Parts: sequence; structure tokens; C-alpha cells
Amino acid sequence: MRLIQISDTHVSASHHFFAANLEATANWLRSQEASLFIHTGDLGMDAAGQEVDLYASRDWLAGLGAPIHCVPGNHDVGDRAEINSRQPVNDDRLGLWRDAIGPDRWLMDQQGWRLIGLNAMLLGTDHAEEEAQYAWFEKALETDLPVALFLHKPLFIDAADEPPRGYWSVAPPSRQRVMALMRSARVKLVASGHLHMHRQQVVDGISYVWCPASSFVCGESQEELGGERRLGAVVHDFGVDTVESQFLRPDGLDDLKIEPVQRILYPR
Ligand SMILES: [Fe+2]
Ligand SMILES: [Fe+2]
Repeated sequence: MRLIQISDTHVSASHHFFAANLEATANWLRSQEASLFIHTGDLGMDAAGQEVDLYASRDWLAGLGAPIHCVPGNHDVGDRAEINSRQPVNDDRLGLWRDAIGPDRWLMDQQGWRLIGLNAMLLGTDHAEEEAQYAWFEKALETDLPVALFLHKPLFIDAADEPPRGYWSVAPPSRQRVMALMRSARVKLVASGHLHMHRQQVVDGISYVWCPASSFVCGESQEELGGERRLGAVVHDFGVDTVESQFLRPDGLDDLKIEPVQRILYPR
């Protein structure tokens, strides 16, 4: 089974600074043969702030001509209040996502693998859906199949026991709870987005893969996190009990940085 993962398209209804990269990505995806396509969040530029960006994202996805399974990012449904007090995860944002895009968490069994999509943006929010998702996740892990997990924010940057990494990863209490649940199953892959960089590392037998963005990379506004700041995608090839992931670079991408237009796109 071959699965293609993209992330962080940041589609905008009103700004088109990265439109050529999105066009190149869409063209490349349309030419690919894969069993599945997955998007690990930040579909929209500011979909958590303006619905039109969510609808523009939905339209962009529809143009790919193949179903793509998505999990939400902070720019789609908001974040923990201590990270972004203006755009907390709430019922309205979750409802808009579900209406426009689909479920924010999902599982599917495909060719001997259980694939799970988790809404990372609920983690640490104390929203009622957070507990519901933990209960759902526990059940989702009740399988003899090897498991691949997809979510927007990485569980950690360098180590599972590291202190909080603020905006960049899941906060430690939620991370520990997710990872404790993971230990009940044969999790082989945890694939995330959010960082706009690529890296792969194996920790305790699990492959942690950062999928790069399709839109822009971060320059000086992002601290050094250890990944490669290049646009692209990730192809996951699943065997009987193993998965191999490789970075791929669609033709026509330009590693544009966010900083020159950051104040225009995110004036707050
Ligand atoms: Fe992003
Ligand atoms: Fe993000």
C-alpha cells in the first residue's frame, strides 16, 4: 500500500503569495498513483479566523480529483487558549470543520494496517471533545493490526520526556497520555505536519515523520528545531509489518519564506 501525505497547504481566499506552490502540489498529486492521500492539517491560511479560507481549502481539495483524508491544524480549528487566546478550539470552529471537510478524527483499516487520524488541536484544551477523543482513541487502538497515526502537531520535537515546546508540539501532559495509550497497540508510524519542515527519527521502534508544508517555509520566526526547511511531501510505503517513508519534492516548488508577508497574512 502506498500512501501520500501532504501538509500545511495554507490555502487563502484572499492572498495568493504561495499559489504557484499549491498549483505545483496539486498537479503532482493528480499524477500520482497511491491508495490513499492524507493531509495533516493547516488546510487554510486563517480558516480558524475566517470561514472563507476553510471553504477555499475545501475547493482546493476537491480539485485534486481523489479523496483525501484530513486532520485539522491550528489554522483550521484554533489552538489551546494559552497558545492562541483569540482562536481557541470551540464548538463553532469544530462544527465548521466537520461541515466543510469531514470528521476531525477517523480510523480506517487498509490492507492489514489500521490508520488513525487524531485531532491534535483538542489536546490540552479541556474542551469536552478532548475526553471523548481519548476514549475513542483507546478503543481505536484495540486491534492486532499495526497502526499508523496521523496528527497535525508532533507529539514532541526531540524526546518524549522533553519539557514544553510551546507552539511547536503537543504539551507534555497530553503527550504522555497519548503515548501511554499508544503502548497498548503496535504503533509503527506517527506522522505529523505543523513545523513546515521534514525530519524522520525512530524512537522506541516507532518512526516519527515530519511532513513538510506545501505552501511556505519559516525563516527567522522559527527557532532551530532540527528539521530540513524544504517544501515537499512524504510517501509512505507499507509492507506486512513495516513502513518506509521518504521525502519527495514535486517539480515547481519554490521554498518561499513566510516572514516577508507574515504581517499581511497574520496581522494579529
Ligand atoms: Fe502550518
Ligand atoms: Fe500548524
